[in-house]
Amino acid sequence: MEEAVREACALLAAGEVVALPTETVYGLAADALNADACAKVFASKERPSFDPLIVHIASRGDLARVARVPEDIQEVVGKLADAFWPGPLTLILPKQDVVPDLVTSGLPTVAVRQSAHPVFRAVNKKLGNPIAAPSANRFGRISPTSASAVMKELGGRIPLIVDGGACSEGLESTIISIEPREGKKPLFYLHRAGPVTKEMLQDFGKVEKVRQKAGDLPHAPGQLPSHYAPVTPLRILENPRDFKPEPGRKYGLLSYRGEPDDAFVRCHAWEQVEALSPGSGKLAEAAIRLFYAMRVLDEAGLDEIIAEPLSEKGLGLAIMDRLRRAASRD
Ligand code: TXA
Ligand code: MG
Repeated sequence: MEEAVREACALLAAGEVVALPTETVYGLAADALNADACAKVFASKERPSFDPLIVHIASRGDLARVARVPEDIQEVVGKLADAFWPGPLTLILPKQDVVPDLVTSGLPTVAVRQSAHPVFRAVNKKLGNPIAAPSANRFGRISPTSASAVMKELGGRIPLIVDGGACSEGLESTIISIEPREGKKPLFYLHRAGPVTKEMLQDFGKVEKVRQKAGDLPHAPGQLPSHYAPVTPLRILENPRDFKPEPGRKYGLLSYRGEPDDAFVRCHAWEQVEALSPGSGKLAEAAIRLFYAMRVLDEAGLDEIIAEPLSEKGLGLAIMDRLRRAASRD
């Protein structure tokens, strides 16, 4: 690990990009204060310049270097950081001038979080600068939750991938912005559902979903209708009784539990079935395995992937969000 951290830091300090594990998904890292390095992140991912990057800080003390915390939300930001940092919660805050406009796509705000992954934290600390890191996939594609998935997405395009094993959360961080309210708990706008659930945030404020109007500049292109998408078309099947297979086409099932007596498993002679949480059905396990299972089915030579919907409670909200975007063709 020491050697990997040293090598990653040397490359980052030289203005290069490096793929690093985080607890959510693998990130494509660059020195967040070096605009040329961050430009390489956009180029390697083929990411459009209107899609801003998340900035990762090594310690709470570094927050003030990249973001300004308005006085009327200082208390709640402190509470959220105590509760969820280091971890999968990203806060959108007014940016400091040192953060290049390229990183925030010209927005006056910056998205900030502190990663909990030991490798990422070690690199972040040793580098001494905040790290900009979007998910290490090509734009619009499935986020990588293992080093081999990064290799498939970006192999040959970047100088180093650090293998830190499988990600322990499996879904990208929850993203919120905060609006203070006189005499009441603040309002949290949920820009992206993630491992820190709505239910977990409700202890600290009122959670509201961000609604985007057609033609709006995306607040979070993770919110573009089509994102996290396999190459194979994916469809969510609400009711297994409605499934009408076309002759000659190969279908695979993305199942929650994958049990033989399950109505979704039984409704068709599937070419392949991938279970998100085999047997008992646990949402945390389904979150960890979602992108992996989507990749496996995407590589299985199918004509279509059929996904079973999950209840939108707790982590189910983030899982269904990713499935809907994977299913969208817009
Ligand atoms: O878990 C994660 O957040 C992972 C790991 C690597 O940390 N990163 C990640 O980054 O998912 P990315 O780039 O795939 O998604 C970041 C999202 C984008 O949809 C982007 O639009 C949004 O964060 N974002 C970044 N800055 C923003 C800002 N100032 N305002 C609104 N949204 C912002
Ligand atoms: Mg992404």
